[in-house]
Amino acid sequence: MTSGEFVSNCTADALSSAAQLLKAGGLVALPTETVYGLGADATNKDAVSRIYKVKGRPADHPLIVHIHSMQSLGEWADEIPSYAISLARDFWPGPMTLVLKRSMLAEDFVTGGQPTVGLRVPDHVVALALLSAFENIGGKGIAAPSANRFGHVSPTTAHAVQDELGDFLDATDLILDGGPSSVGVESTIIDCTGELPHILRPGAITTAMITGSTGLIVSEEKSTIRVSGSLENHYAPEAKVYLDQIPNVGDGFIALEEIATPRGVIRLASPKDNDEFARVLYSALRSADTQKLSRITILQPLGDGIAIAIRDRLERASHGR
Ligand code: TXA
Ligand code: MG
Repeated sequence: MTSGEFVSNCTADALSSAAQLLKAGGLVALPTETVYGLGADATNKDAVSRIYKVKGRPADHPLIVHIHSMQSLGEWADEIPSYAISLARDFWPGPMTLVLKRSMLAEDFVTGGQPTVGLRVPDHVVALALLSAFENIGGKGIAAPSANRFGHVSPTTAHAVQDELGDFLDATDLILDGGPSSVGVESTIIDCTGELPHILRPGAITTAMITGSTGLIVSEEKSTIRVSGSLENHYAPEAKVYLDQIPNVGDGFIALEEIATPRGVIRLASPKDNDEFARVLYSALRSADTQKLSRITILQPLGDGIAIAIRDRLERASHGR
């Protein structure tokens, strides 16, 4: 077995070596506020193709390019509408990915052959310091999908990354430990190629926030853009996930703190509110697999805001069960 070196002390020196490793074509798993990403130099075809190999992900699924600030937006994207500038100004760094018409820099190997590119400035000190160190040595952006095997639950800790990908990384690759992700579900993806913004994947940046920033109605029309995270059978643990049902004895159980634990179940999480629900959900799903549970029953949070993103992921994790 080979596995990426685990770096739990992300000093300036460690980050500058990580940036150099990226520049040399290596992979660096990095913390973000949403989930951990598996990063490579977004302009290096061989490095990016290793991401697909390590994840076991089909090559036509586009990757998000992470940049240090909105100043690099124009390098990666063309014909940026003014509403996208408002969104970037209001929510970056943050849990939001903008899909824009790509520039020449965004090649087919990173966009999955699509004419658009997904861009995000993450809100995490380690990610931002790595991006800054990378740009200082001529890097343009870090392509990073969630650092899990294709279709699995995204990792929200460095240890979860090692569990997922340790067997597939090289000894020279790195896993940076930046603590548990503070948001816990993946970024809101907004298609900015039309007249109106359109949500491709819900997240912590909500429809109301987008309208508040842009003054525009968020388009609900069906999009033709392909989003792998919108496939059914995604975000799934090994255990079977059941939603809003009476649990069986022996099930793992996840619900808000105010809901009492039914007799005979194994309580995996008791979040106080919806934000905490998002933050702990993926580690709770993982703990069910560690404990080799065969079923997890989850009572979903109601309402909008981040609850919409939680229900979106759970619907897929449960395949509609
Ligand atoms: O929070 C996040 O977005 C995390 C962290 C690491 O930044 N990343 C993440 O990446 O969730 P990934 O690859 O697991 O999911 C990104 C989704 C994929 O479903 C991909 O299809 C979609 O973004 N995507 C990327 N570029 C796109 C594009 N140009 N057009 C449409 N969808 C795109
Ligand atoms: Mg993913």
